[in-house]
Amino acid sequence: MTLQIAPTDGETAWFTEARLGLFIHWGLYALPARQEWVRNVEKVSNEDYEKYFKHFDPDLYDPGLWADAAVNAGMKYFVVTTKHHEGFCLWDSQLTDYKATNTPYGKDLLRPMVDAFRGRGLKTGFYHSLLDWHHPDYTVDDFHPMRDNPAAREANAQKDLARYVEYLHGQTRELLTEFGHVDILWYDFSYEGKGKEQWQSEKLIRMIRELQPHIILNDRLGIDQDVKTPEQFQPREWVKVNGQPVVWEACQTLSGAWGYHRDEESWKSVEQLLHMLVDGVSKGGNLLLNVGPTGRGEFDRRALDCLRGMGDWMKRHSRAIYGCTQAPEGYKTPQDCRYTYNPKTRRLYLHLFTWPYRHIHLDGMADVVEYAQLLNDASEVKLLRSIPEAAYGSMSEEREASTLTLELPVKKPDVTVPVIEIFLK
Ligand code: GLC
Repeated sequence: MTLQIAPTDGETAWFTEARLGLFIHWGLYALPARQEWVRNVEKVSNEDYEKYFKHFDPDLYDPGLWADAAVNAGMKYFVVTTKHHEGFCLWDSQLTDYKATNTPYGKDLLRPMVDAFRGRGLKTGFYHSLLDWHHPDYTVDDFHPMRDNPAAREANAQKDLARYVEYLHGQTRELLTEFGHVDILWYDFSYEGKGKEQWQSEKLIRMIRELQPHIILNDRLGIDQDVKTPEQFQPREWVKVNGQPVVWEACQTLSGAWGYHRDEESWKSVEQLLHMLVDGVSKGGNLLLNVGPTGRGEFDRRALDCLRGMGDWMKRHSRAIYGCTQAPEGYKTPQDCRYTYNPKTRRLYLHLFTWPYRHIHLDGMADVVEYAQLLNDASEVKLLRSIPEAAYGSMSEEREASTLTLELPVKKPDVTVPVIEIFLK
C-alpha cells in the first residue's frame, strides 16, 4: 500500500472512517514535568537523567480510566509512545534494561494499556522514536542533549550507529510480534544525517509489512508510506503529494507540549479543539489529539476537561465526523463555516464557527436540498427559496434564484459548535 486518498484495503479503511484518535506521550519526562524534550533543552546527561528512572513509580496508573476517557471523547484509536527520544521503554523489551519493569514501578506499562484500549474497541497504534539519547551507540548530533560536550562528540568515534539500528529493528520486531494485531506504527523522525539510509528504512519497512501486513505506517522513516502527518498546524487544504490528495492526520497538543508539562498554560479551549477536528475532516483528514499523563499515571484535570468537553459535543454530532470527508466539488462553503460530508448517507453537514443573524445563504443549492435540521436536537431548519418582503420589512435583497437560504433561530443552540444536517435530494 502506498499513499492514496482512502485506503482501499478493507483492513485499513477504518482509519479514514475513524477521524479522531488519542496520542499519548508518556515516559520518564513526566517527572521533571517540563515536556518530553527536557533532556535536549536543558542538555541533561545520562547520569543526571538517571534520577527520574530511579523515581518513576506511576502508582495511580489505570489504563482502563484512560481508555474510558478516550471512548467518551469519541476517539476510535490510540497511539502511544512505546519509546520517546529519551530511550526509555514502556514495555518489557528483551533488548534493553532501560524499561518500566526496572523502575520502582516494576511492571510492564504497555501491555495493560493495549488490553484496556483494545478491550473497549479502540484500534492500537505504536509511536516509536527513531532517536535514542540513551543508547550507547547512538551518535551525538545537533539534536542530542550532549551536543555541546566535546568529550561526548569525540566519543562518537567509538560508537557504531549500525548497532543501534539493529536494536531499532529488533525492538520493532518485538512490538510487532508480542502485542497481537497492531493497527498503526508511528515513527518519529528523520533528519539530515539520520534518515532512510541510516535507519535502513527499506529493510525495516519490508519487515514491518511482513509481520503486520495491514498496518498503517506513517511518513517519518524518510519514505512516504500510508499517511502524511502534519504537526501542530492545520493544513490549508487537503494534503497533497506530487499534486495528489493523500491520507493525512494532523497531530495536535492540548497545551503547548506533548509530554506532561506542569507549568505550561497555553491550553486550547474545547471550541478550538473542535474547530480543529472539523476543519481537518472538512479537508479529508484525521486528528490525533495528545495527552501527556503525569508521573503518577493520570491524565491531569485540564486534559480530562478538554476530553469531556469534546465528548459532550461528539455525543450529538459524531455523525458529522465519522465516515465524513470533504464536501463534493462545487459546494461553496459559507463564511465562517466548514462543510463535512458523508458519501455513504449523502448527508452534508454545515458547521457554524460563528452564529449568524439569522440567515445562511447557500449559493447554488436551491435545487439540491430536501430537508435540513439542527443536528443537536433534530429541530427543523426552514428552507427559504425566496425571502418574502412582508416577513422582513420592505427591504429585500437581490439574490440569485439558485441560492437557498436557511432560516436559523435567533439564539445559538447550547452546543459548542452548532451543526446543520442537510439531506440532499
Ligand atoms: C515532534 C516533537 C516530539 C513529538 C512529535 C509528535 O517531533 O518534537 O516530541 O513526539 O512531534 O509528532
